[in-house]
Amino acid sequence: MNQRSYDIAVAAAPDYVAHEGIKKWVAEIVRLAEPDRVVWCDGAQEEYDRLCTEMVQAGMLIRLNPDKRPNSFLARSDPSDVARVEDRTFICSEKESDAGPTNHWEDPAIMRETLRHLFQGCMHGRTMYVVPFSMGPLGSPIARIGIEITDSPYVVVNMRIMTRMGRQVFDVLGARGDFVPCVHSVGVPLGRHEPDSPWPCNPDARYIVHFPETREIWSYGSGYGGNALLGKKCLALRIASKMARDEGWLAEHMLILGAESPEGEKSYVAAAFPSACGKTNFAMLIPPKSMCGWKITMVGDDIAWIKPGKNGKFCAINPEAGIFGVAPGTSEKSNCNAMATLRENAIFTNVALTDDGDVWWEGVTDDAPAHLIDWQGKDWTPEIARETGRKAAHPNARFTAPARQCPSIDPEWENPEGVPISAFVFGGRRATTVPLVYQAFNWSNGVYLAATLGSETTAAAFGVQGVVRRDPFAMLPFCGYHMADYFRHWLQMRHAVDHLPKFFCVNWFRKNEQGEFMWPGFGENMRVLKWVLDRIKGKVGAKETFLGWLPFYDDMDWTGSDIGKEAFEALIRLDRSDWQTEFEAHKEWFGKLGERVPKRLLLKRELYRYTVEED
Ligand code: GTP
Ligand code: SPV
Ligand code: MN
Repeated sequence: MNQRSYDIAVAAAPDYVAHEGIKKWVAEIVRLAEPDRVVWCDGAQEEYDRLCTEMVQAGMLIRLNPDKRPNSFLARSDPSDVARVEDRTFICSEKESDAGPTNHWEDPAIMRETLRHLFQGCMHGRTMYVVPFSMGPLGSPIARIGIEITDSPYVVVNMRIMTRMGRQVFDVLGARGDFVPCVHSVGVPLGRHEPDSPWPCNPDARYIVHFPETREIWSYGSGYGGNALLGKKCLALRIASKMARDEGWLAEHMLILGAESPEGEKSYVAAAFPSACGKTNFAMLIPPKSMCGWKITMVGDDIAWIKPGKNGKFCAINPEAGIFGVAPGTSEKSNCNAMATLRENAIFTNVALTDDGDVWWEGVTDDAPAHLIDWQGKDWTPEIARETGRKAAHPNARFTAPARQCPSIDPEWENPEGVPISAFVFGGRRATTVPLVYQAFNWSNGVYLAATLGSETTAAAFGVQGVVRRDPFAMLPFCGYHMADYFRHWLQMRHAVDHLPKFFCVNWFRKNEQGEFMWPGFGENMRVLKWVLDRIKGKVGAKETFLGWLPFYDDMDWTGSDIGKEAFEALIRLDRSDWQTEFEAHKEWFGKLGERVPKRLLLKRELYRYTVEED
């Protein structure tokens, strides 16, 4: 190591860092990336405020009008860096077969060489931040510690909202504690007198890399969301899913909500929907007026870590501390809890700026303001939008805000024991075929239905949108090992507890022949949730079909709704020929996954395929 880099690293390590392994690792990265400065982040409010102020001065953030949006900021990304990049995401297990056909794989030795070249000198002219964070409540036995090294101050301030970040993490780690090393760079070294860009990133070289066996994360070239906030998808899902399999638990792309009935009975439900398919909305559900006796609370909106509890039930925690939510479509009407969550102390990315220094996005109000600055920093008017189709906010524009600011946050949301789960709900975006709601016959049928979940792609990931793809358990982009082994793990987990949650599937997105959504969604989803809870409690019957149990119209609460029996029948209709096609698609999907697919699932497919005709 050259003396200069070594000096920077060691001199900068604060007294409270007792962990020699961390100091050594940081020194190694300093030697590799050669930043100008190293800052060990302490997580204090002063540090956050200072970084935001520096970014405002550098033109990387815009401070919003404090009267309208206190202590909040707007960032505009590079137009090439607006979502997760699935085709640049790698699972580098020792053996290719352990990554499986749904992940991109590269030989770890080759990838390490590639990364060494990419990171060599990549932080020239920049400050390197050392960001200690805990996924899960600090010091809780189920929490995991990560340290993210990054050259992006935007990442630092977002990590402070999304995780428990700061010096307390070092107290938990002590001298020898385990941590997941996460290295991130925007991939743009700066020359001595070169001005920085407002959103530095490298469109030509993007790598989101995981080494599941050694539990390491390396990310290069992007500053956006799950590509760069490495505690989220990289640690809490891809690496954690591998830990979970090795240790007998589940790391899932699921929201967790609490539902208290008018009689005061409380249950918790975990639900997996693919990216931008309504998890945040469901987690923050506001029941319709006619069902206002129900109280829905949020434990988490994106990730659940689920472990067999001492009570013989699966217990779930939210490893995150913040919400990184989709802005477009969020409004007082669709989700007033989200609107309250982002009222202050929020960071907005790729939304539009109003003339009075507030934020705006499609759907937040019925009418657009007469003038805006759009997410690319250009003038925008409703006329321009009509002529060009240009959106004011990017469809994957997001807000980052502390979860504790959500008015419906569950009192148990930080309980290190987690909350007991009564039901798993799986849902995708399906214009056809899939009914509003149905219940799986049992655990392994539930695993089958989740394993074959299909959904139309959304703006949350870079690539073609609106095409149906298989997104098993909503985990396609997030499973850190072979998908078929993941199915096997889920099948096995039925032995882990005495009281198994029931499985349900939902589809809020079925369309009629005019291409309109048939289901009003949002708060109205409470009617479906109530049926789910009634089924669990054995309060209502159901209609047995080849697919599972479907609701009877009279068993659902329709007070205050204009959905009549006919509209309902259309919502839950099973079309045999659609399902024949569907089960053929499942065959192709299992074929793609190869020989590791559990035989139980293959046989179930045959049975479904047969009964769809014979039933
Ligand atoms: P990630 O954060 O990407 O994992 O996504 P998420 O699942 O949390 O997505 P979110 O709740 O933010 O939903 C995003 C989109 O789904 C928005 O465009 C919403 O308007 C739409 N949406 C949510 N709930 C419903 C619903 O019940 N019906 C319909 N039609 N749209 C919905
Ligand atoms: C998702 O895409 O599922 C998200 C957003 O939750 S990101 O953190 O960017 O992955
Ligand atoms: Mn997500």
